[in-house]
Amino acid sequence: MNADELKKQAAARAIDLVRPGMRLGLGTGSTAKHFVDLLGVKVASGFDVLCVATSEVTQAQALSLGIPMSTLDETPELDLTVDGADELDPQLRLIKGGGAALLREKIVAAASARMIVIADDGKLVQRLGRFPLPIEVVPFGLEATRRAVVAAIAASGAAGDLVLRRRPDGEVLLTDGGHYILDAHLGAIAEPERLAQALNMVPGVVEHGLFIGLASGAILAGADGLTILGRVE
Ligand code: A5P
Repeated sequence: MNADELKKQAAARAIDLVRPGMRLGLGTGSTAKHFVDLLGVKVASGFDVLCVATSEVTQAQALSLGIPMSTLDETPELDLTVDGADELDPQLRLIKGGGAALLREKIVAAASARMIVIADDGKLVQRLGRFPLPIEVVPFGLEATRRAVVAAIAASGAAGDLVLRRRPDGEVLLTDGGHYILDAHLGAIAEPERLAQALNMVPGVVEHGLFIGLASGAILAGADGLTILGRVE
């Protein structure tokens, strides 16, 4: 079974968690896309939900499927967010932002009573950091912010190169919020909490892709079936 089929299996299990009348956060990425597709099928048969998207891409997908959409201004408290991840560890700490949606993803997850991660089991790692950590920064003062980020990473005991993310055409990538992303190639993050705190202190850093204490459960699909981490019900 290929990775995309595994992602779809994880998404299908997460659909079972959706109850009528729920206020849902919709994630971003190829795994979350399956979830939104499956939710669209339910909605088409009359199922009642109200959703908030974590990106413009997901918003467009959901609207195209007829899913009723809201905003965090109109609906500031959500029951459940279902989203993918780039990496997760056994303590449900995540790296997110490979799809550049980390800021809205974190705001939506934090506004949700529960966040459930859906992924293929290749995303599970014993130690975070093999996937480059996305750090969203404002364009103003980029070089000064970059240096402060380097210092914060060093102070937290980690090390690695920072790469300004570009689009395939070579232009600097802009997030939905109009920011840049620095990808930190750290290899391994010994103390994710310490690094998260250090990055939170840097002026110019809007958000980073370490999601700590946000996910309550994860549904991981692998060749031998589904694995549940934490609580999903
Ligand atoms: C989007 O910014 C990311 O956080 C995604 O949730 C993450 O990259 C997972 O994407 P896939 O489901 O495509 O692997």
